[in-house]
Amino acid sequence: MAGLCLLLALVGFSAIRAANGDDAGPRCKSVPGSNSWPSPETWAAFNASIDGRLIRPIPPGAVCHPAEISYSAADCAAVQSSWFTEALHTEDPVSPIWNNWSNDSCLPDPRLPCSAGGYPVFVINSTTAHHVKAGVDFARAHNIRLIVKNSGHDYVGRSSAPSSLSIWVHHMKGITAHDGEFRPQGCNVTIAGHAITAGAGTQMMETYRAMALVNKTVVGGNGRTVALGGFITGGGHSILAPRYGMAADQVLELELVTPTGEILTANECQNTDLFWAMRGGGGSTFGVLTSVTLKTIPSPEVMSLMFQFTAAAENPHAFDAIAYFVGKFPELVGAGVSGYPIIFKAAPGVLSGGQTLVTGIVGKVVMLDTSNETDILGQIEPLFAHINSTWPGFVFYTNATYYPSFGAWYEENYDPSPVGYENIMGSRLLDGPSLTDNATATKLALERFADGGQATVYMVSGKGVWHAQPRGGSNAVNPAWRRTYVHATASVSFASLNATAKTAAIARANVLTEALRELSPHMGAYVNEADRYEPQWQSTFWGDNYPRLLKIKRAVDPDDVLWCTPCVGSELWQEADDALCRI
Ligand SMILES: Cc1cc2nc3c(=O)[nH]c(=O)nc-3n(C[C@H](O)[C@H](O)[C@H](O)COP(=O)(O)OP(=O)(O)OC[C@H]3O[C@@H](n4cnc5c(N)ncnc54)[C@H](O)[C@@H]3O)c2cc1C
Ligand SMILES: *[C@@H]1O[C@H](CO)[C@@H](O)[C@H](O)[C@H]1NC(C)=O
Ligand SMILES: *[C@@H]1O[C@H](CO)[C@@H](O)[C@H](O)[C@H]1NC(C)=O
Ligand SMILES: *[C@@H]1O[C@H](CO)[C@@H](O)[C@H](O)[C@H]1NC(C)=O
Ligand SMILES: *[C@@H]1O[C@H](CO)[C@@H](O)[C@H](O)[C@H]1NC(C)=O
Ligand SMILES: *[C@@H]1O[C@H](CO)[C@@H](O)[C@H](O)[C@H]1NC(C)=O
Ligand SMILES: *[C@@H]1O[C@H](CO)[C@@H](O)[C@H](O)[C@H]1NC(C)=O
Ligand SMILES: *[C@@H]1O[C@H](CO)[C@@H](O)[C@H](O)[C@H]1NC(C)=O
Ligand SMILES: *[C@@H]1O[C@H](CO)[C@@H](O)[C@H](O)[C@H]1NC(C)=O
Ligand SMILES: *[C@@H]1O[C@H](CO)[C@@H](O)[C@H](O)[C@H]1NC(C)=O
Ligand SMILES: *[C@@H]1O[C@H](CO)[C@@H](O)[C@H](O)[C@H]1NC(C)=O
Ligand SMILES: *[C@@H]1O[C@H](CO)[C@@H](O)[C@H](O)[C@H]1NC(C)=O
Repeated sequence: MAGLCLLLALVGFSAIRAANGDDAGPRCKSVPGSNSWPSPETWAAFNASIDGRLIRPIPPGAVCHPAEISYSAADCAAVQSSWFTEALHTEDPVSPIWNNWSNDSCLPDPRLPCSAGGYPVFVINSTTAHHVKAGVDFARAHNIRLIVKNSGHDYVGRSSAPSSLSIWVHHMKGITAHDGEFRPQGCNVTIAGHAITAGAGTQMMETYRAMALVNKTVVGGNGRTVALGGFITGGGHSILAPRYGMAADQVLELELVTPTGEILTANECQNTDLFWAMRGGGGSTFGVLTSVTLKTIPSPEVMSLMFQFTAAAENPHAFDAIAYFVGKFPELVGAGVSGYPIIFKAAPGVLSGGQTLVTGIVGKVVMLDTSNETDILGQIEPLFAHINSTWPGFVFYTNATYYPSFGAWYEENYDPSPVGYENIMGSRLLDGPSLTDNATATKLALERFADGGQATVYMVSGKGVWHAQPRGGSNAVNPAWRRTYVHATASVSFASLNATAKTAAIARANVLTEALRELSPHMGAYVNEADRYEPQWQSTFWGDNYPRLLKIKRAVDPDDVLWCTPCVGSELWQEADDALCRI
C-alpha cells in the first residue's frame, strides 16, 4: 500500500517536471555521435589527466569474429573455453557475467553478430580516489551516462550499460589492518577490536585469505570473486550472518566519491546520511565507494554437513517432506545451523533404480565452534527420521566434515556458480510465520517457486541480523532482513538473441516469485539477488527506508549523475535503446 502511494506520487512529480520544461537539464544523456558527445581531443585531454588510464574497451568475444580487429582463432578458442568461468568476466574491464547485460552484442561465436554497442564506450581503470573523482566530474560536466563496474557479478544488470563511461574499480585493492582498536576519522570515539580497511575492488577470496593469516575472518559472501563494493552497498548476506549480522552491519567507516565530485569519509560522526545510505541502499547510487573499514571476527571452527534427501519426482509427498523440512528452519537456525539448502524439482538424479528424475533438497550447512559431528547430525537426523517414517520413498545422505578454521572450510566450499549465460532471477525473504503458520500454504508456495527446477532456501539470517547494532544506530539494509529466516531465490535461463525466449523468461521469473510474494506479502527481497523487474521494487527492496533513501539521493545527486535500475531514485529516467532519457 505504502509502495503504491509512493509510486503514484513520483509519477506525478516527473510528469509536472516534463510538462513545465523546467530546469531539469538535457532530456537525454549524451550518446556517441551526438553534438554533445566530447570530441576525441577532449577525451585525450581527459585521458592525460588520469595518468593515461582511459581504456576504449574491446568486447572480449570479438576475438571470435573475423571482421573484428582483435580476431584471432587461437584467442577465440581460449575465450570460448573460459566464457563459463568467473575469471574471464571479472578480469575484463566491461564483460558482465550474465550475457544479457551487454545485450548479447558480441558473444564468442562467429555465427552471431558482434558490435561494441551493448558495452560502455570508455572505461577508467581506476586505482585511486582521484581517478574516480576525475571520472565523476567528467561525466557530470559532459552529461554522460556513468556506471561503476567491479566484478561484474550483478544479477540485475547495474554494472553494465551502453553509451556510458564506466569507472572500473576492480583494481582498487589492498587491505590494511587496525590492531586492537579503530578511531573513525573526526570522531571522539574509539571502537575496540580488530578491523581492516580494504579497497572497494577487493574480492571475497582475497579478503578471506588475508584474514586467514591472522586467524580471523570477515562476514563475507560465498562467491569467490564477488567484490566488496557491490556486496556491502547491497547489504551482504553470509553463512556467518546469523551470528554476527550482515556485511553492511560490520562497517565502521567508508570512503567514497560523491556524484558532485567530493572525496569524503563517512562514518557515525560525519556525512552520516551517506554513511547510512551506503550500507544497504544499493550500489552506484549515492557515490562510488573507494574503500571500506570492516570489523573482523575470530575465525570459527566449522562443522560442515553435506546432506540430501530425494524421492522420485512423481512421489506425491515430495513437497510435503520439503515443506516439513523447511518449516523446521526456525528451530535449526535457533540451534546455530546456517547454510545453503537448495530445493530441486524433477531434476536428473540417481535413485536405487538408477538414473531418473528426482525431487528433494541438497544442502551444505554448518555449525560454528564445534568439532563434534554429533552436534550437527543431531539436528538433521531426527528430521530425516520423521520424513522416513511419514512419507515413503525417500533416500537420505549425510556427510559431516570438520574444518579447523573458516578459511579452511571456504577453500573447499565456496559457491562455484556457473556464469556466462542468460539469467534472470526472482527472490523473496521469508520470515518465521511464512514457514511455520500453515504447512499447506508453505508447501504449495515452495512447489510453485521451484517450478523452474531449482530454488535456493538459504539460511543466512538469524539473531545476529535481527538484533544487529550497526554503527550510528542503523543503516539502510532492507528492514525485512531483520525478520528473515530464509533467502529464497530461483533463476530462469533463456536462449541468447531470442526476444521471445527473453520475454517468456521475464514473465516466468515473475510467476515463480509471485508464489512467495503471496506467502509473505509483508516481507521483501534482497536487491543484490533479485528480479530486475520486481513490481513495487522500492518497497520490496528497501521497505520503510525508501523515503529517506530517496531524499538522500536527491540531495547528493540532484542531476542523477549516477543512474541504474532498480536503484533508489531511478524513477525519473528510462532506457530507450542505447540512450537514457528523462521520462
Ligand atoms: C557466484 C555468486 C555468489 C554470490 N554470493 C553472494 C553471497 O554469498 N552473499 C551476497 O550477499 N551476495 C552474493 N552474491 C551477489 C552479489 O552480492 C552481487 O552480485 C553483487 O552485486 C556483486 O557486487 P560486485 O561489486 O562484485 O559486482 P558488480 O556487478 O561489479 O557491481 C554490483 C553493483 O554494485 C555497484 N558497485 C560495485 N562496486 C562499487 C563501488 N565501489 N562503489 C559504488 N558502487 C559499486 C555496481 O555499480 C553495481 O550497481 C553472489 C553472486 C554470485 C554471482
Ligand atoms: C590513454 O593514454 C594511454 C597512455 O598514453 C594510452 O596508452 C591509451 O591508449 C589512452 N587511451 C585511449 C582511450 O586513448
Ligand atoms: C537484457 O538487457 C537489456 C539491455 O541491454 C534489457 O533491456 C533487457 O530487459 C534485459 N533482459 C532481461 C531478461 O533482463
Ligand atoms: C588496469 O590497471 C591495473 C593496475 O595498474 C593493471 O595491472 C591492468 O593491466 C590494467 N588493465 C587494463 C586493461 O588496462
Ligand atoms: C572527547 O571526549 C572526552 C572524554 O569524554 C571529552 O573530555 C572531550 O571534551 C571530547 N572532545 C570533543 C572534541 O568532543
Ligand atoms: C593461528 O592459529 C594457529 C593454530 O592455532 C597458531 O599456530 C598460529 O600461531 C596462529 N596465528 C596467529 C597469527 O595468531
Ligand atoms: C559428541 O557429542 C555427543 C552428544 O553430546 C557426546 O555423547 C559425545 O561424547 C561427543 N563426542 C566427543 C568426541 O566429544
Ligand atoms: C528409514 O526407514 C527404514 C525402514 O524403517 C530404515 O531401515 C532406515 O534406516 C531409515 N532411514 C533413515 C535415514 O532414518
Ligand atoms: C565426505 O566429504 C568429504 C569432504 O568433502 C569427501 O572428501 C568425502 O569423499 C565424502 N564422503 C562421502 C562418503 O561422500
Ligand atoms: C492454509 O493455506 C491453504 C492454502 O493456501 C488455505 O487453503 C487454508 O485456508 C489455509 N489455512 C488456514 C487455517 O489459514
Ligand atoms: C526462441 O524461443 C522460443 C521460446 O523459447 C522458441 O519457441 C523458438 O523456437 C526460439 N527461436 C529460435 C529461432 O530459436
Ligand atoms: C539491443 O540490441 C538490439 C539489436 O540486437 C537493439 O535493437 C536494441 O536497441 C539493443 N538494446 C539496447 C538496450 O541497447
